[in-house]
Amino acid sequence: MNISGKAKVAGVFGWPVEHSLSPRLHNYWLKEYKIDGVFIPLAVEPDNLHRAIRSLPALGFAGVNLTVPHKEMAISAVDRISENAARVGAINTLVISKDGSIEGKNTDGFGFIEALGACASADDLKGETVVVLGAGGASRAITAALREHEVGKIYLVNRTRERAQRIADDLGGEIITVDWKERADVLSDVKLLVNTTLLGMVGQPKLEINLDALPASAIVSDIIYSPLMTGLLKGAARRGNPVVDGLGMLLHQGRPGFHSWFGQEPVVTEGLRTHILNRGAN
Ligand code: ATR
Repeated sequence: MNISGKAKVAGVFGWPVEHSLSPRLHNYWLKEYKIDGVFIPLAVEPDNLHRAIRSLPALGFAGVNLTVPHKEMAISAVDRISENAARVGAINTLVISKDGSIEGKNTDGFGFIEALGACASADDLKGETVVVLGAGGASRAITAALREHEVGKIYLVNRTRERAQRIADDLGGEIITVDWKERADVLSDVKLLVNTTLLGMVGQPKLEINLDALPASAIVSDIIYSPLMTGLLKGAARRGNPVVDGLGMLLHQGRPGFHSWFGQEPVVTEGLRTHILNRGAN
């Protein structure tokens, strides 16, 4: 890496931050495009979040990503948020404008839709029925993005139904909440099934779901990337469904931030996927 005194600086705020893959992602692109810039991990305690965000313009930062647990709290510290971020109620990307003001955006939904690109474009989903499992922050971002792209009916399935209902009420449109125990009953006529729960992740319980009713052409997607092939994706692939793993969303959500901070539209390639998966090496 060749960092000069003029290097553009960006980073990621998290608490803890050491598990974040964003430094690996953005520094790969910086090297790839030979950009004089650096992207650093910043361990910011929740109590310091407001001050840390307000310090960014004074420090000359181009911007930062925000990860757990900062995505909601940060909204009150920025000068404005995008329309999409307001709908989602969370921000993951801060951009410092020339006048020193701070804008918050949410790029998770964009990342999800772009990652699907391998199997389907947003246009292919227009008017189609979708099932989303889970009603946490990731579900909210993905459901909002699906609504923006004018999918048809969205079945929102969650263990705590009230949480799903809150998303349905906030986003409006045809979002039907479903009890967790009925998750296998809404799969016929579905074009896309997405898991946004943490079930199936390393160290978490398995995601049990009977896929018998799911059409063979339905895309099955999981936002978990550890492991890359979750039990859900393995089961879906075995019966011939196209599958999309969670790494794509992670990589694509980083693209808008990188473009804003460093002035280059980055591309997600197989080489990048390998680099991120091969965490130990350099
Ligand atoms: P994030 O914000 O990252 O999406 P989250 O807010 O912790 O994560 O949400 C995790 C999701 O996994 C929620 O939908 C949660 O269901 P609840 O809203 O009922 O908590 C779901 N989840 C976690 N453990 C689960 C389990 N054992 N069975 C079913 N759903 C589970």
